[in-house]
Amino acid sequence: MKFGFIGAGEVAQTFAKHFVRHGHEVVLGNSRGPDSLVELARSIGPNAKAGTVKEAAKQDIVILCVRWHQAKQALAEVSDWNGRILVDATNRPLDEDTKGKTASEVIASYAPGARVIKALNTLVVEWIQDYSNKKPKSVLFLSGDDTDAKRKLARVLEETGFMPVDLGGLIDGGRLQQFGGPLNALHLDLLDRMEF
Ligand SMILES: NC(=O)c1ccc[n+]([C@@H]2O[C@H](COP(=O)([O-])OP(=O)(O)OC[C@H]3O[C@@H](n4cnc5c(N)ncnc54)[C@H](OP(=O)(O)O)[C@@H]3O)[C@@H](O)[C@H]2O)c1
Repeated sequence: MKFGFIGAGEVAQTFAKHFVRHGHEVVLGNSRGPDSLVELARSIGPNAKAGTVKEAAKQDIVILCVRWHQAKQALAEVSDWNGRILVDATNRPLDEDTKGKTASEVIASYAPGARVIKALNTLVVEWIQDYSNKKPKSVLFLSGDDTDAKRKLARVLEETGFMPVDLGGLIDGGRLQQFGGPLNALHLDLLDRMEF
């Protein structure tokens, strides 16, 4: 699978390392252009490339990893979001008034036509920086209205050693996942499971 990261900070680097270690390809983009990311991409591995935001947005799964206030501008770089899978990994600050809308509805409004999934936002990344194959299976929640897009993301998260848990639609699930919601910053690792 090919992943494009819009934003190349802590969150993007953490998930890029997990994906690359499992044979996937990643393209990282930021506001300063590919030259500023060449060294970083090299440090992640041969399957990681520095690119533009537009190049990142062409990959199979696009992950938005910018700060909340940077999201609108970052997404506006891409003129056509139609049908693309966009994972919203951002967290909206608690004091941000979004007039009754969930954080991911706001993000979805900046990327019309995208198949938006809220995911990868609930864990502090320092908690999931064990890249060995002995890492615990951490739970990653996902919410979205497009079943096929969620299935693709869930499959790859599972292969990468995480435990994806689908919460349903973007609005109801997103409300549970976003800052202030009951599942935000909830660290669950699968240690054992009863066989059925
Ligand atoms: N840190 C965590 O543990 C954690 C966990 C889950 C979710 N989150 C959420 O994930 C998001 C990213 O967090 P982070 O800690 O990774 O932030 P970060 O380290 O500050 O990284 C933000 C990245 O976005 C890039 N950026 C800024 N403006 C941009 C634009 N217009 N277009 C493209 N790229 C742009 C920045 O690079 P340039 O300035 O060089 O462009 C930087 O690479 C936030 O919304 C945060 O709330 C954080």
